[in-house]
Amino acid sequence: MEIYSQIHAMQLQSRRWQQAGQRISFVPTMGNLHAGHLALVEKAVELGERVVVSIFVNPLQFNDPADFAAYRRSLDADLDKLAPLEVDAVFAPPEDEMYPHGRDATTQVDVPALSGILEGEHRPGHFRGVTTVVAKLFNIVQPDVAVFGEKDFQQLRIIECMVADLDMPVEIIAMPTVREADGLAMSSRNSRLSASQRQLAPLLYQTMQEFRQHYLAAEGNIAQLQAQATAGLAQAGFVVEYFSLRRHEDLAPAKPGDRCLLLVAARLGETRLIDNLCME
Ligand code: PAF
Repeated sequence: MEIYSQIHAMQLQSRRWQQAGQRISFVPTMGNLHAGHLALVEKAVELGERVVVSIFVNPLQFNDPADFAAYRRSLDADLDKLAPLEVDAVFAPPEDEMYPHGRDATTQVDVPALSGILEGEHRPGHFRGVTTVVAKLFNIVQPDVAVFGEKDFQQLRIIECMVADLDMPVEIIAMPTVREADGLAMSSRNSRLSASQRQLAPLLYQTMQEFRQHYLAAEGNIAQLQAQATAGLAQAGFVVEYFSLRRHEDLAPAKPGDRCLLLVAARLGETRLIDNLCME
């Protein structure tokens, strides 16, 4: 497993693989790797002859500087986790390699149709930061296929939209959310929960599953069910940012009969949890 920190060296290697006719698969990450990331990497190993993982805590996608500062950096531990997998290269650039003219001066990529709602409403500029860095990473790694988790469903849809709109020759593969035994969706942020918050956290997914049961049994209208679930979570100590049933394809508010999924964001103390559940 080679470690690259320079864009030019990574691009050269990718070009060599392409010239040899080898399919490159790619998993972008911000490090602090857990079993959810490793499942994405295993999928990438199945899909490509060469596998690249990037590790870069992207400052552009943090709307809160304190959150950026608190984000756990664990490069050595991450490399240890990747070493037993069939990863050919890790791209782990420093910030000034990615943004040599500074964060604010860089060209940015925006997907306006989907970036201002849900997460975008609560984290202004977040998705512009994500699409900008993912577009750069695609230009650097030049993958044939890239693997993303469904846990960040809105991010996944936005990246699919970017790839389609900008004619990027990358196939996007989505992988199901990996959960802890008690149902909590795996996330790098879970390690920031206190012991009591960690005990409470699975209630989020339980409430989502209950919502789904009531929805599928047509017990109550969507607005009532959303209000009940939000009130229950608030009573338990969550600060719910959204608990919203959305249409699958464009994330517009769902109407009866739509193919839809539930998207949720809630805070426990300082830690923000997001999750989603398909209503089928
Ligand atoms: O999902 C993430 O970890 C990040 O948003 C990504 C896609 C690596 C871009 O920084």
